[in-house]
Amino acid sequence: MKVLGKEDTNQEKKNVNYLTAKEVRRISRENRKTTDEFEKTRERKNVSVDEYTTIMKNNDNLMEVENLHTYFFTDIGIVKSVSGVTFDVPKGKTVGIVGESGCGKSVTSLSIMQLVQRPQGQIVEGQIRFDFDEYIYDLAKIPNEKMQQIRGNEISMIFQEPMTSLNPVFRIGLQVDEVIELHNHGMSKEKIKNRTIEMLDMVGIANSEGVYKMFPHELSGGMRQRVMIAMALSCDPKLIIADEPTTALDVTIQAQIMDLLRNLKNKINSSIMLITHDLGVIAEMADFVVVMYAGKVIEKGTAKEIFHNPLHPYTVGLMASRPKIGGLKAGKLYSIPGSVPNPVDMPDYCYFKDRCNRSMKKCNGAYPPEIYVSDTHMVACYHYLDSEEEKHD
Ligand SMILES: Nc1ncnc2c1ncn2[C@@H]1O[C@H](COP(=O)(O)OP(=O)(O)OP(=O)(O)O)[C@@H](O)[C@H]1O
Ligand SMILES: [Mg+2]
Repeated sequence: MKVLGKEDTNQEKKNVNYLTAKEVRRISRENRKTTDEFEKTRERKNVSVDEYTTIMKNNDNLMEVENLHTYFFTDIGIVKSVSGVTFDVPKGKTVGIVGESGCGKSVTSLSIMQLVQRPQGQIVEGQIRFDFDEYIYDLAKIPNEKMQQIRGNEISMIFQEPMTSLNPVFRIGLQVDEVIELHNHGMSKEKIKNRTIEMLDMVGIANSEGVYKMFPHELSGGMRQRVMIAMALSCDPKLIIADEPTTALDVTIQAQIMDLLRNLKNKINSSIMLITHDLGVIAEMADFVVVMYAGKVIEKGTAKEIFHNPLHPYTVGLMASRPKIGGLKAGKLYSIPGSVPNPVDMPDYCYFKDRCNRSMKKCNGAYPPEIYVSDTHMVACYHYLDSEEEKHD
């Protein structure tokens, strides 16, 4: 067996795959100290409203996420799942969030809902300003007690796998009734049932009276997802977060569910945050697009800007990796080489540099700044710095 010298040990420490038991103990001790402090702040009772009341930068926005950092304090180190995410969700609009698996899309949406796995997962920095009409709160600072009233009432979420969100031992009707009752105190049993049936009709369930009496396992995946959408809509939320709502379904059902969401979008006043790998879906539904890479927003803009004029080499790669029907040449599908860097050990230069086909000298420097090429179109890439000298020095 190789005996490690002092130098070797230091090297080992840097490599997250080879931590000594002592190192792991030290890390978890430090983690506990940090997370305990965050938890203490979150659990406080009777917190003054002033502490989390804020103002919007732009009153047309329903939500403004600014410089959001959500970390997981794990035994192998700090996983910086979301590190400095900034984007707006305007009132009544749909914002699509795209990016490779593991880039922090779900952690961003869970941060908004305050559903990040605690205590190891914590929002460590940033603001999530949300307009509730009479007041504007910062969801990143709001105490647990208050968040419980908001979750599922003003903001609701449609998850990827509906079976895990429905309780298998209760009938569908009862589960939707429960949500409606929770948000409409004092409503009569009959009225609640009528509203449930109405919601089931609205999401395109033909036999709504029959489905009301069924158990989740008696429904197909697509039907279950429709029920989940009915539940999410039943409290008339200001924001609906749909995190890959169709990934668990087959393609024809996926298309039906997307059609449903598209139709509902025009009927309701809610804003939608749509997270998906499917650029086709984003192109059809989203007004604005946010492209994420390794916990950061690398490009954002209106759907038109992103689809007609993608700037970041990663976005260009994403567009190129889309299957096209009826293209002139049916070539091999493009894939971006390499993989996302390890979130425990991020480089201090552009996170995409090692996979980028346009990287240059400047890219070895600090992480690129946010560059606005129009009022709405932002890209974080040195290629778009204004002056040529700045680009090359
Ligand atoms: N509970 C957790 N503990 C530790 N790390 C986590 C936890 N949850 C998520 N992560 C890490 O955070 C990063 C972002 O994960 P996230 O689930 O947000 O990705 P995503 O963009 O939603 O991916 P996908 O498209 O596959 O759903 C990943 O590297 C993941 O491993
Ligand atoms: Mg996800």
